[in-house]
Amino acid sequence: MKIAIYPGTFDPVTNGHLDILERAVKLFDKVIISVARNSTKNTIFTEDERIALLKIVSKKYKKVQVESFSGLLVEYARRKKATAIVRGLRVISDFEYEFQMALANRRLHEDVETVFLMPNEKYTYLSSSIVREVARLNGNVRDFVPPVIQRALKKKWKQQGR
Ligand code: COA
Repeated sequence: MKIAIYPGTFDPVTNGHLDILERAVKLFDKVIISVARNSTKNTIFTEDERIALLKIVSKKYKKVQVESFSGLLVEYARRKKATAIVRGLRVISDFEYEFQMALANRRLHEDVETVFLMPNEKYTYLSSSIVREVARLNGNVRDFVPPVIQRALKKKWKQQGR
């Protein structure tokens, strides 16, 4: 059984993330989307909200499981018996950071490979912060995220009085 971890902050999950997930599902027997709990990022969605939203948008994939993790990613991968970490590569500027992280992870745990997948080119400009910013300023994020995320963003900004 080939298990892969797809880690990230997912604040919120975008169509670009889902494009990567769809590709990963074709390659592995099981894909665990895992929300990084000790991310240094200031998130607008809580960990539970991000997990709940990820569960909704990935429920059509039988092979996908959604969880969160804290501590070192490679240790978590080891506990889950995963042999791969999936990361998306959108543009050249992603490369340096991803390359460093992949090599550091390999040094920490030889048996887990980082697998880079490229999203459809129409998503290369997309990031969670762009989605958050457009939504905050009342722009239309229809092309960027699934409808359930659109609604969640609207509700979130309303709660925050923007
Ligand atoms: N579509 C849209 N956006 C994408 C994307 C895609 N296919 N792929 C990446 N992104 C965006 C994300 O939305 C995010 O955008 P933002 O910064 O505007 O919010 C950005 O690219 C990268 O974020 P993400 O994919 O969430 O990764 P991250 O860099 O926040 O998370 C971890 C990195 C959590 C995997 C990493 O920090 C980690 O492993 N932490 C655990 C601790 C550890 O082991 N550290 C040692 C590592 S060597």
